[in-house]
Amino acid sequence: MTAISPPARRCGPCRPVRPVTRYLGGTKDRVKTEEMLTIRCLQYYDDHPGLGIWMTLDRSSGSPVGFHLLNHIQGESFIQIGFALVKAAWGRGMGTEMAAALLRYGFVELSLPSIVGIASLDNRASQHVLEKIGLHRRGERAFPHPAYASEGPMAWFERDSRDWLAECGSM
Ligand SMILES: CC(C)(COP(=O)(O)OP(=O)(O)OC[C@H]1O[C@@H](n2cnc3c(N)ncnc32)[C@H](O)[C@@H]1OP(=O)(O)O)[C@@H](O)C(=O)NCCC(=O)NCCS
Repeated sequence: MTAISPPARRCGPCRPVRPVTRYLGGTKDRVKTEEMLTIRCLQYYDDHPGLGIWMTLDRSSGSPVGFHLLNHIQGESFIQIGFALVKAAWGRGMGTEMAAALLRYGFVELSLPSIVGIASLDNRASQHVLEKIGLHRRGERAFPHPAYASEGPMAWFERDSRDWLAECGSM
């Protein structure tokens, strides 16, 4: 646990920013934060080499401005793209930039057969990013895992690698 204690301690006094956390399962208390860091982040890296969650840095300043991820939808076999930025970084194309890089990394470097995306039905910015990078909207899906169950149906996006590589692989 020592590996996660310092970041967990730093998370404690942070003030949640609702526009950022509302689509990320809400604010987590210390116990839930430690659990997420241990299981969903650190253990996941060991169990699934190449996949996981990465910090997003602003190229111009080097400051951390968010995170991006390529990991399993919890309780499912689908590999999803995910992303979040601090509010000050919104609207500058960074969400699209990191999502596009994840898609290319997943198909070209990891040879994943397909990649999906999910977003709350009212999260238009996220849905727009997923469509801009080339995922296709295929209706809605709901998931039983407690991380998503209360959300109900979510916007569902997917893309197969063969199809994507034929269109974008050589770009
Ligand atoms: C989703 C998020 C990462 C987008 O980051 P961003 O850097 O602002 O995204 P971009 O600037 O690359 O693109 C956003 C696009 O959505 C559009 N958009 C933004 N708000 C919108 C809205 N309410 N309705 C429709 N489109 C919207 C923007 O105009 C832009 O499209 P354009 O480039 O065609 O003009 C950011 O809003 C965020 O961190 N949100 C909170 C966390 C979150 O929701 N994560 C996703 C969970 S599924």
